[in-house]
Amino acid sequence: MNLEELRASCIACEKCGLCQTRTNVVFGTGVPNAEVMFIGEGPGQREDEQGLPFVGRSGQLLDRYLQSVDLSRDKNIFIANIVKCRPPNNRDPLAEEWAACLPWLEEQFRIIQPKIVVCLGRIAAQRMIRPDFSVTKEHGQWTEKNGILYTATLHPAALLRNPSQKPIAFEDFVTLREKIKEVCTRTYPQQED
Ligand code: URA
Repeated sequence: MNLEELRASCIACEKCGLCQTRTNVVFGTGVPNAEVMFIGEGPGQREDEQGLPFVGRSGQLLDRYLQSVDLSRDKNIFIANIVKCRPPNNRDPLAEEWAACLPWLEEQFRIIQPKIVVCLGRIAAQRMIRPDFSVTKEHGQWTEKNGILYTATLHPAALLRNPSQKPIAFEDFVTLREKIKEVCTRTYPQQED
């Protein structure tokens, strides 16, 4: 199955109760052979309306961080969420929603085969890296699991609430850029140094 076939099945998903309140499934966006994947928590209102991840205010901030290290959803990364439908009132996804949604993310990993996964915020980091992961204390650090390098940074929505933390997140993106240069072969094709 390729990514477009997976998307077609995913947008018809009714595996958990979120299908009753969603407007659109937010499958994810980016290039199908991305070496770097970003994983958020779940769609918010704008994402639910448009069917695309990180298109609201926090997404605009994320795009600025991405751009500062030559990453973009059109060029060299893929962005998805741990749950693909909006939890009502933006509450945290429930364990059963995450569990029902996990096979979609696993298939995305199987098809895209990322080398690096960047978790955006606590919820994604605790699901993807370790249940007791502390984004405040451990952001920017790297963990290898099943041949994939994982890191986490602050969620852009948290940066909007607390702008004094923006330099900390920027440092994580600089660290990410260095790691990409070390392990990725396609992400910066025109400017290898
Ligand atoms: N926050 C997330 O975690 N994911 C989105 O897609 C949008 C906002």
